[in-house]
Amino acid sequence: MFNWLESTSYAEWIQISLWDWAIMLTLHAIGTATIVGINFVAGLRLVGFFRSIPCTSLNQFIKITWFALALNFVSGFSLFMSNASNYGTELWFLMKMGFVILASVATWQVQKAVKQDGAAWDSAGAVSATAIRLAISSLALYSALVIMSRLVAYLGRY
Ligand code: HEM
Repeated sequence: MFNWLESTSYAEWIQISLWDWAIMLTLHAIGTATIVGINFVAGLRLVGFFRSIPCTSLNQFIKITWFALALNFVSGFSLFMSNASNYGTELWFLMKMGFVILASVATWQVQKAVKQDGAAWDSAGAVSATAIRLAISSLALYSALVIMSRLVAYLGRY
């Protein structure tokens, strides 16, 4: 299946033209900046920074993450297709995919907690210990995801 993906005309188009790879990587970088930026601000707020930002407002930002994640799936899959047989069997890339799933689940959990308890945290002036632990996990997972993604380019066998 990986070989078939790589031989499609779309994949060949990305392989042949330097511009097409660059465009997809640029879209991927914009998506990454949006996802990681928003999740870092939300995570740091829950941990105790930027206390003037109401917790209830975080959901408005977190919603944008899902659009950026869709952009990263499309651009990331396009990059993947250009060299599917290598990426698909590369340990670093598979670990990166694991972190994409875990970090997305963390975002979903943070969003759920903010929607459910954000107003209570704002009126109490404190975030629950469970939410702080969740925020720390989210910050750690997104850091690992970015580090792993950069390492794919250096440690992969391409
Ligand atoms: C939360 C989602 C994601 C984030 C934050 C993310 C982040 C990144 C980052 C930081 C890079 C390195 C860019 C560079 O070298 O300049 C990268 C590269 C890449 N990503 Fe993602 N990514 C995500 C999702 C995906 C998905 C879903 C796929 C595939 C289905 C994917 C496939 C790739 C590929 C193939 C590369 C190029 C690796 C190379 O340079 O050889 N990414 N990603």
